[in-house]
Amino acid sequence: MKAVILAGGFGTRLRPLSCTRPKSLFPILNKPLLQWTFEKLAKSGVKYIIMAVSRQTRFQIKSFNVDAGELKIVYSCDPPKKPLGTGGPVKKAEKFIGAEDFLVVNGDIFTSLDYSEIAKFHKEKKAVATIALCRVDDPSRFGVAELTENGRIKKFIEKPPLGKAPTNLINAGVYVLSPEIFRYIPKGRKVSMEREIFTRLAEEGGLYGYVFSGLWTDIGRVEDYLKLNRVLLDSHFFEKKIVGSNENIREPVIIEGRPHIGKFSIIGPHVVLGRNVKIGKHVHVENSVIFPEASIADYASISGVVIGEKAVIGKNVKIEENCVIGDYAVIRDNIFLAKGVSVCPAKEVSENITASRCVM
Ligand code: GTP
Repeated sequence: MKAVILAGGFGTRLRPLSCTRPKSLFPILNKPLLQWTFEKLAKSGVKYIIMAVSRQTRFQIKSFNVDAGELKIVYSCDPPKKPLGTGGPVKKAEKFIGAEDFLVVNGDIFTSLDYSEIAKFHKEKKAVATIALCRVDDPSRFGVAELTENGRIKKFIEKPPLGKAPTNLINAGVYVLSPEIFRYIPKGRKVSMEREIFTRLAEEGGLYGYVFSGLWTDIGRVEDYLKLNRVLLDSHFFEKKIVGSNENIREPVIIEGRPHIGKFSIIGPHVVLGRNVKIGKHVHVENSVIFPEASIADYASISGVVIGEKAVIGKNVKIEENCVIGDYAVIRDNIFLAKGVSVCPAKEVSENITASRCVM
């Protein structure tokens, strides 16, 4: 089977970290999300992948050199400055697909869903499209499906108003499609798969839902990204590797390489330290993801934060939950950043920021 990976979005909700990398390259337990996706698709028997990208994400992904193993990868690029949405890139991939059913996977999700099971279900139902569905507490941010008893989706509503969703079964961002789908998607323009194609297919009876339980999350927002890393650190996906004896580590923690960690610092629980991160003395880091080559100086306190690549955190800095520090940003000594502050790449912060806002 072939698979299309949708990886050409702007990731606006993950700015400023997504200004410098697409969501598919965000590290998940120190491995790019795209590599997890490649590995999972290969295990399900996929051999050929169409990367549906923008010019920018094509450049970023190619430069990153993600290990694709035996997979054959082709790039299908949206026209310059004309993003095709979530449906247009599928139509554009038609020439690569042929006459078989194929998978479409959002490039910003992590799941334990078995792709071969949904493909089997799709065939049995003779569906035009089958959406993987999972249950969440708050469905209002997602596409919500209402099912008949035999698994047909009778109604598909994209982002229903809060409290108005008919079920809590949401679109998990994985579809199996029959080649017949190409008749439904107009060519050469932006198309929303969710709003235009699935709603119509539901009315016509060709849309099915495959309900699964297990691990699923997208990394749409910073809190989702942190939560995914935290959940995985507590799961079997995390293989603990001994990194030398350091009594200052509070498991679970994943550390790439052998970073310098100063005396009396406490790292963890739920911390991911990228390659060559430097940590000074008396530092406290918990529930955070620190990208490669970042440095955190003495007495800093970091909780529930994502710190970008090569960012520099000064002495005695305190950073609260859901803050995001862009790549190469510098936070000067003794600075306090309140909950929800984000700092754009390469920006220098030399005054306290006491309310949630973006420092540009
Ligand atoms: P936000 O701007 O934060 O909503 O993120 P997004 O638009 O990048 O992601 P969204 O969840 O809306 O899209 C789901 C998947 O489709 C993601 O993996 C995106 O990269 C991808 N995607 C979204 N829009 C486009 C597009 O115009 N072209 C292509 N090729 N992929 C897209």
